[in-house]
Amino acid sequence: MQPSAASSFARCFLIDPILPLGEGFFILSIEFYFSLWYNYYELLLFAHKKRESEEKMSDFKIETKCIQSGYNPGNGEPRVLPIYQSTTYKYCSSEEVGDLFDLKADGHMYSRISNPTVAEVEKKITDLEGGTGAILTSSGMSAILLAVLNITKAGQNIVSLSAIYGGTVNLFAVTLKRFGIDVRFATSAMSDEEIESLIDENTRMLFGETIANPALDVLDFDRFAALAHKNGIPFVVDNTFPTPILCRPFEHGCDIIVHSTTKYMDGHATVVGGCVVDGGKFDWSANPEKWPELNDPDPSYHGVAYVKQFGNDVAYITKARVQLVRDMGIPMTAMSAFLLNLGLETLHLRMERHCSNALAVSKYLSAHEKVESVSYPGLEGDPQYALAQKYLPNGCAGVISFVIKGGRDAAVKFMDSLKLAAIVVHVADSRTSVLNPASTTHRQLTDEQLVAAGIPAGLVRLSVGTEHIDDIIADIEQALKNA
Ligand SMILES: Cc1ncc(COP(=O)(O)O)c(C=O)c1O
Repeated sequence: MQPSAASSFARCFLIDPILPLGEGFFILSIEFYFSLWYNYYELLLFAHKKRESEEKMSDFKIETKCIQSGYNPGNGEPRVLPIYQSTTYKYCSSEEVGDLFDLKADGHMYSRISNPTVAEVEKKITDLEGGTGAILTSSGMSAILLAVLNITKAGQNIVSLSAIYGGTVNLFAVTLKRFGIDVRFATSAMSDEEIESLIDENTRMLFGETIANPALDVLDFDRFAALAHKNGIPFVVDNTFPTPILCRPFEHGCDIIVHSTTKYMDGHATVVGGCVVDGGKFDWSANPEKWPELNDPDPSYHGVAYVKQFGNDVAYITKARVQLVRDMGIPMTAMSAFLLNLGLETLHLRMERHCSNALAVSKYLSAHEKVESVSYPGLEGDPQYALAQKYLPNGCAGVISFVIKGGRDAAVKFMDSLKLAAIVVHVADSRTSVLNPASTTHRQLTDEQLVAAGIPAGLVRLSVGTEHIDDIIADIEQALKNA
C-alpha cells in the first residue's frame, strides 16, 4: 500500500519523529518529502476553502444564519451536522491524493489542525460575525492566547482596557509577562493622549471587551478603533457577552474578534470552547517590516509568506491555524463543535429572551428598597446607557450586577435563599445563576479591600436565564425578603 501524504506526515512529525540512521533515515527522508508537500497542499487547501466558504456566505438575516449557515448537506446526506469523531483521514489512492494536491478535491488530514465537524461550525461563526475565516479552540482563554501570540512575541507589548474578564487580566498581567510580552492597561476614563502614550513601535494590538465581564462597561468602538488604526495596530475585541446577535464588532472598526463560546453561544453549559474570527480588513502589508510574521517567509512552513500567498484578508487566520494551532495543539473537538452548533441554532431566540428578562429584572431591582444600586447597560440612567443604545440597540445580554443593602451577610443570605437561581461559577447560560464575589472568588479580601477593588461586599452578579420572567422575579423577591 502506498503511504499517503497524510500518514507520512503523521509518522514523520507525530508518531516517530526520531528514527535511527540507515534505513530509518531513508524512510525519514521520503516521509519528510511527503510532509513538505503535504504542508504546502494544506495551505493551498485553506485558501481553496476560503473561496468556497465565500461562495456560501449568505445574505440571510442573522436569525436564519444561526440555523442554516455552515453545514449544507448534499442529496441523501445526514440532515444534521455529523460528528466526525476521527483523529485522522484515509486516502484510498495516489490519484486522490494527487487531486488533493491539485485542489480538485477537498479534505482533512489530522484533527489537531482541522476536522469536518469543527470546520462547518467555524464557517457558521464566520458568517454570523461577517468575517473571512474562524478557528474554534479548546477554550475562550486559548482563543485569546492564540489571537495575541499570532502577532506578538517576546520583547513586544499589547495595550488592553482594564475592564475585562479576570482570567484574561491574569493571562495578560502574569502569564504573558513570563513569555516576555508586556501588557499595558488603559481605562476608558483616560484621555486619548494618555492611552497613546502607552503605545510604542513594539505595540501589537489594542484589546477590549464589547460588554466587560464583570464591570459591564460598554466598549466605545468608534473611539478605540480610531485610536488603534491611527497608531497602525489592529483592534481586537472579545465579543463573548453580546454574541453576533447583539453586536457585530467588524461593523464598528474591529479587526479580530475572540469569543468564549462557553457562554451564550453554547448556552447550555455543556462545552468549554473559544473562537478567533478574522475580519480580513487590517492591512498587514501596508507596513511589512512591522508584521514580519505575516509578510516574511515562515521557516516552519518551508518559507510560505502568508500575506503574499493567501492575501491580506485571510493571512492572519491562516497563519494562526497552520502554525500556532498546529504547534500549541488547542483545537476544539468534533463532539464539542457538534454541541456548540446545537447551541448556535437557538442563539437568536435565547439572546432575545436573555435581554428582555435581564431588563425586567434590572427594573424590578432598581425599585426595590433592599437594593442599593443596579448595573445594567440597558437600564435607562445607567452610566453605560448611551453607549449601549449606540452599539447594542437590540439588548445588552443577560448579565447584571446589583449591590444589596447590608453587605456581605445580606448577600449571602439572599443567595442561600434562592430556590430557582443557582450559585455557580459561570455566567451566560439558559439557567439563572448568581455569584457573590465577596464570599466566593474574592473571599480573601477584607470589606475595605473589596471597596478599593471596586467590588462592594454586597455586590451580586446575576446571570439572568431564559426561564419565565415571573418565576425569576418571584424567586428574587422571596430571597430578598430573607436577606
Ligand atoms: C468575556 C470572557 N472572555 C473569555 C473568557 C474565558 O473563556 P473560557 O472560560 O471559555 O476559557 C470568559 C470566561 O468567563 C469571559 O467571560
